[in-house]
Amino acid sequence: MFSDRIPALRSNSISKALQRHREAGGSINDLTVSNTSCVGLDYPDGLLDPLADPAGLRYHPSPLGKFSAREAVAEYLADRDVSVSPDRVVLTASTSDAYTLLFKLLCNPADLVLTPQPGYPLFEHLTRLDGLLSRRYLLEYHGRWSLNVDSLRCAVEPGVRAVVLVNPNNPTGSFVQSDEWDMVRDVAAQEKLALISDEVFDTYLIEETVAGSAGRLVAETEVLTFTLGGLSKSAGLPQLKLGWILVGGPEDLVREALIRLEFICDSYLSVATPVQLAVGALLENTRPLVDGIRSRIQVNFAALRELTQRFPACQVLHLEAGWYAVIQVPSIRSEEALVIELIEQDGVLVHPGYFFEFPRGAFLIVSLLPEPERFTKGVTRILKRASG
Ligand SMILES: Cc1ncc(COP(=O)(O)O)c(C=O)c1O
Repeated sequence: MFSDRIPALRSNSISKALQRHREAGGSINDLTVSNTSCVGLDYPDGLLDPLADPAGLRYHPSPLGKFSAREAVAEYLADRDVSVSPDRVVLTASTSDAYTLLFKLLCNPADLVLTPQPGYPLFEHLTRLDGLLSRRYLLEYHGRWSLNVDSLRCAVEPGVRAVVLVNPNNPTGSFVQSDEWDMVRDVAAQEKLALISDEVFDTYLIEETVAGSAGRLVAETEVLTFTLGGLSKSAGLPQLKLGWILVGGPEDLVREALIRLEFICDSYLSVATPVQLAVGALLENTRPLVDGIRSRIQVNFAALRELTQRFPACQVLHLEAGWYAVIQVPSIRSEEALVIELIEQDGVLVHPGYFFEFPRGAFLIVSLLPEPERFTKGVTRILKRASG
């Protein structure tokens, strides 16, 4: 009756342990939280007022997005030193929505897309839901993360259509480095692959001195590129459902891609009018909130590093940007056993490294978004339990 696009929807040992703990009345300090709207951050008063613009009462569908909204996104990006013409900005309902549009644009059923390992677990589902397969290329850690370009070359086989770069990557928090861009670009040019750069976390630098590499592909002229972002992370507004794709590359390919994207977007018309009318104001008025998220993650990461010094068996991996931190812990038991112990004994929830396909153990991934007091308490318990 149902398609094979949906994976086996079984609960795993960790979700079962969590359910048991909750049913027994236990509380949970959730260090996996990724939703900025429920971690005690202040959202500016009147933030949603622009959604009530009476112009939103009239519906004039524009498949790629209202031009004024595309201009507002381009202006916001110009302020961040990313120069893009509004003609090359396509609005979507979210970054996940952007992926499904791009997969339809670039791939036939059963084609392949390359994604990073370790990486964002949703790629497995997003590709599969579009009837595609995903293959991995590797990020390796040698005091900092680097992209193993040989693994990318080896992963290219007939049917591969696109390479997804996550910049900075979730959960390793690493930017693609200058020489890595060049090498990946050469592979893409040689193999006629499109490049997709997911830059949803690029605003969240852990140290202001780190030079990010956002928007690097927008001015690309040899390879067809798509750069992704959205209100969900850039403005801390996942509930408003607006994202964007910036199209780059050789003029003729960009033109063709935009014509086809317009056709695909016209079939869904997913982006609501009020949020398009409000996007400029939302990006402007959430600046203090975004600064608040950035300082929250910086404060929590500094606390994590300081706490870890008291537990020499554990190590915090180098981090450049994003909302997550990776802790390497002794592999005296499996990641799963440790995560379950943390739920049952300490009331703390963290992600195991295998969830993000770390190739070996043992790693735990913590969100840097929780309120600092909760974060410090939870992390202290993790470090004690992992070291014991
Ligand atoms: C790397 C990455 N891309 C995309 C998304 C989803 O973004 P959106 O809420 O815009 O769909 C996430 C969410 O955590 C993410 O980690």
